Amino acid sequence: MNGLEISPFIAALPKVELHVHIEGTLTPALRWRLARRNNVPLPYATYDELLESYNVLYNHRKEVHGDNGAPTFLETYFAGTQVLCQEDDFYELGMAYLEKARDMNVRYAEPFFDLQAYLPRGIAAATVLNGYMRAQREGAERFGVQSNWIMCFIRDRPVEEGIATYEAARPWARIPGGHGLFHAVGLASNEYDRPPMLFEKAFQMAKQDGLHTTMHCDVDQKDAADHIHEAIFDVLGGHGTERIDHGLNALDRPELLQGLASKGIPLTLCPHAYHRRQATDVLFPKLRRLWELEGVKWCINSDDPTYMHNVWIDGAMEKVYHYCGLSKADMVQLSRDAVEISWADEKLKAELLQELERFEEKDC
Ligand code: ADE
Ligand code: ZN
Repeated sequence: MNGLEISPFIAALPKVELHVHIEGTLTPALRWRLARRNNVPLPYATYDELLESYNVLYNHRKEVHGDNGAPTFLETYFAGTQVLCQEDDFYELGMAYLEKARDMNVRYAEPFFDLQAYLPRGIAAATVLNGYMRAQREGAERFGVQSNWIMCFIRDRPVEEGIATYEAARPWARIPGGHGLFHAVGLASNEYDRPPMLFEKAFQMAKQDGLHTTMHCDVDQKDAADHIHEAIFDVLGGHGTERIDHGLNALDRPELLQGLASKGIPLTLCPHAYHRRQATDVLFPKLRRLWELEGVKWCINSDDPTYMHNVWIDGAMEKVYHYCGLSKADMVQLSRDAVEISWADEKLKAELLQELERFEEKDC
């Protein structure tokens, strides 16, 4: 991880994770085991070859750089989902993340899931969602990590397919009479020529059901700032989304920063994901600037840790701590901000804030 070790302070800091794709936590070991269990062929002859495939940077985008024959990041990520077939597979993936979260002192998480990736393969919504729901319940009991999950629309697939997926998932939503697995919808995958407003109808449906809304505005993509503009000012009948995932290009235009601040829309940032593409002395001054700005809240997350050099939330926090030159008290404040940005219920938020207060008295 760029030579940084996780310090005892960052390891012990109580954490909240709001931007992690559950499919982006699939370890090579679990992928290998599930491929065998489900007779899914992998394009790697040996486990070492599979491990090696995780070392690639996946920096190029076909629309921008042309097809160089290598898979893009998202192609690699979706290839990983092929080994997930049975309810137990989804359960084990969820439990593996929540156990790892416990080990990193993550107390609460809001993992994304891509149901839409499985339905075209003939996997029933119930198979996926019952597996994740068992993990949600057991992970809270066994590991003490509470979670509310987020269903993402896959934005480079047809909008109507996303809406049909939402309808299939609805019984597992946190709505009256629902199972309570997920409490929000998001927007992920390739945003090239797929702005947030295309999904207005889908977001309106979820909002009417009382769910929260968030959307990816990935960093330095084509039209990134325009997508942020739509997410703040246009979506949901002009009310705007409740949160933006990434959204770092808001720094490019003053009206975007003003919009985030005035509407109280926070950013879930994933510093290591950007550090793969931006130099240290370019990226971290931007985060430092965002830290010093009044009014725009943000928090630190991992995104897709197993496909991003195995850097998890603790590694992402260590980078911000070290390269932004923040104090211990600043890092506690970032954890506090994550609690406030989260959609945990008020009781849990109060408990987490109390724990952070005790931690600050003892460790800062
Ligand atoms: N889905 C999973 N990981 C993603 C990422 N890093 N960007 C956009 N969509 C994603
Ligand atoms: Zn993401």
